[in-house]
Amino acid sequence: MRPCRGVLTGLIGCLTVAFIVFSARSGADDEDLFGKESKDTTNIIGDDAYQSYEMSSNKIQIQRHVTPSLAELGGRGILPEMNDHVVMVTRIPGAGAELLVLILQRLQGHNAFKHIRLPPGDDGILTNLQQELLVEEITSIIRQEAIPLTFDGDVRFLNFSAFDRQAPTFISLVRDPLDPRTLERFRNGDSSMIYSGSISHFCGQDTRCTQRNSKWALERAKVNVKRWYPVIGILDEMDKTLEVLENFYPEFFEGAKLVYKELKPKNITQETRPLKKSIKKRLGKVLAKEVEFYQWLKSRLLNETPSKERQNN
Ligand SMILES: *[C@@H]1O[C@H](CO)[C@@H](O)[C@H](O)[C@H]1NC(C)=O
Ligand SMILES: *[C@@H]1O[C@H](CO)[C@@H](O)[C@H](O)[C@H]1NC(C)=O
Repeated sequence: MRPCRGVLTGLIGCLTVAFIVFSARSGADDEDLFGKESKDTTNIIGDDAYQSYEMSSNKIQIQRHVTPSLAELGGRGILPEMNDHVVMVTRIPGAGAELLVLILQRLQGHNAFKHIRLPPGDDGILTNLQQELLVEEITSIIRQEAIPLTFDGDVRFLNFSAFDRQAPTFISLVRDPLDPRTLERFRNGDSSMIYSGSISHFCGQDTRCTQRNSKWALERAKVNVKRWYPVIGILDEMDKTLEVLENFYPEFFEGAKLVYKELKPKNITQETRPLKKSIKKRLGKVLAKEVEFYQWLKSRLLNETPSKERQNN
């Protein structure tokens, strides 16, 4: 048994040394990738990812938990609760977020990030287990890729901190709940895309979020937006939306306005009849809280954000 144990000890020793070498190397690589500014955040994400790459290429199977929990890191003041090198577009069906996704897909090569589409969903409420699995899946992708990432998915607001994970920076796009174009579509039989507001989306994964005209849901949506969604775009204000996004996140959105100009149909003057007054009034009542929320989001987008140009003027 003796010699055999000697060999084993030696092997473990070698693996440990190899591991330390890999760790040291991966730390150095990350700095190159991200530059100095973002060193703190990226090292935390990066080390783990590089280790798993190195490991698999050397066919060494070692289970190691090198990622401290968010609570540990937060306690040490290292990790912000939101990762600003990862942006997640939570798509609201029928609100036009595909446009944002298209722009991100066009920009990824140019701005050196990667866009990842999550498997399709229905923007419905997820069980606790589904939420946890999704959070873990996204967290693990972020670690493996170790470069700036953007995601999009049909997911309502997902509370990463409830699972002790660092959240991505959430962004989204909404539209006017009384937009006549939505009703037009509905009349034409495309009910899958019907858009009737966004409170429930931003309120999150609680059944109470789906109640219509609920004050509780509205307040919760506002709280989540203030805390987790630095920018929410407005479909009818695409130029302003992209301007704000370029200002906030040039790492991802630099050049977005140009791309949008190319994508924009040349003749945007789609004929849509305005809503009849009576219909608008009735709908306005049914969707009262949604209209209130939309106005709040709109004024937030238009006012909250000092652009560089405006500051200089
Ligand atoms: C998200 O999770 C944190 C931590 O568990 C909790 O304090 C917060 O209330 C949650 N927010 C929502 C909207 O669920
Ligand atoms: C755009 O619209 C104008 C008038 O509405 C029309 O004359 C023109 O042919 C259209 N151009 C294209 C490319 O469809």
